[in-house]
Amino acid sequence: MNKESVDLKAEIRRMCQEKNAIILGHYYTDGVIQDIADFIGDSLALAQKAAKTDADIIVMCGVHFMGETCKVLCPEKKVLVPDMAAGCSLADSCPADEFAKFVGEHPDHTVISYVNTTAAVKAVTDIVVTSSNARQIVESLPKDEKIIFGPDRNLGSYINSITGRNMLLWDGACHVHNRFSVEKILELKQQYPGAKVLVHPECKGAVAKLGDVVGSTAALLKYAVTQPENEFIVATESGILHEMQKKCPQKTFIPAPPDDSTCGCNECSFMKLNTLEKLYECLKNETPEIIVDEAIAKEAVKPIQRMLDISAKLGL
Ligand code: 13P
Ligand code: SF4
Repeated sequence: MNKESVDLKAEIRRMCQEKNAIILGHYYTDGVIQDIADFIGDSLALAQKAAKTDADIIVMCGVHFMGETCKVLCPEKKVLVPDMAAGCSLADSCPADEFAKFVGEHPDHTVISYVNTTAAVKAVTDIVVTSSNARQIVESLPKDEKIIFGPDRNLGSYINSITGRNMLLWDGACHVHNRFSVEKILELKQQYPGAKVLVHPECKGAVAKLGDVVGSTAALLKYAVTQPENEFIVATESGILHEMQKKCPQKTFIPAPPDDSTCGCNECSFMKLNTLEKLYECLKNETPEIIVDEAIAKEAVKPIQRMLDISAKLGL
C-alpha cells in the first residue's frame, strides 16, 4: 500500500487501537491534529493525563519539553513525538548549565520553573508550574519565602504583580507571545468595541493589562465559552481558535496580530511541525522516541510530581 492510498486518519486510529497508544495534543497544534487526538488540553491537563494513562505508548503532539514531561512521569512507557525538531523558544532561553549556576548563586531561594523547560532545568527546580496553576502554587508558599522564577519573565512579573511577591526572575520569553502589541490590540478594540480581550500571561505586561481575562489556553477557552459576549480578541497562539470556534460556532474570535507582521505571525512554528503524515509515520515506526537521561529524570520527576500533588490538593 503506497502512502498516497493510505487513509491516514483511519490508519492512525487503527494503530492506536492495535498498539494501545494514546495521542495527546496541545491546543496550538493544527486543527487536524487536535481533531484526531484522544485528548487535547493545556500544558497542565496534558501532564495530568500522561500521569494517569494506562496506554503503553504516548504520542505527544506538542513540543519536545511536553514529550520529556510525559517520559519523566512515565519512564516505563514509550513516548513518541511526530517531529523531534519541535522545540520551544522559551525553553531554549534557559540553558540548563546557566540556570543551575543562577540557582547555585541563590541557595536560600525556592526554585519555581515553568513547565516550558528542559528536563535538565526541572532537575534543579523545587516546583514546576504551568500558566494554569502558577498563581495558586506561588500563593501556597509562605509570604516571605524567597523565590526564583524561570524562565518566562512576562509570566513571572505578571505573577509578581497579582500576588505582591518579589520573585527573582530569569530573563526568558516566548517569541510568539512576546510579539503581541498594545497598539494592534487597541486598533482591533476600535474595530470591535464590544469584544472581550483574552490574553495569555506569556505576553508582555502592557498587553496583559488590556486583558479582560489573563490565563492559560484552557482558562481562555473556558472564559470564551462561558461569557455572554459574542466577540473575542485572542492574544495567544492562534491554534486555540480551532477549539474556541468548535465549542462556540456562533461566536467570533479575532486573532491578535503580532507587532511586526514582517517578522512572522501569531503561530508557533514548532507546534505546527506536527502533521498528520508525521503522526502516521511516528506511530507506524515507533520513532522518534523521547529518551531522558536516567539521573536527570530521577531529579526532574520530583518538582513535576510536586506540582501535580499541589494541583490535586487545590482542585486544579
Ligand atoms: P498553556 O498550555 O499552559 O496555556 O501554555 C501555553 C504554551 O506556551 C505551551 O507552549
Ligand atoms: Fe514555546 Fe512559545 Fe511555542 Fe509555546 S508558543 S511552544 S512557549 S515557542
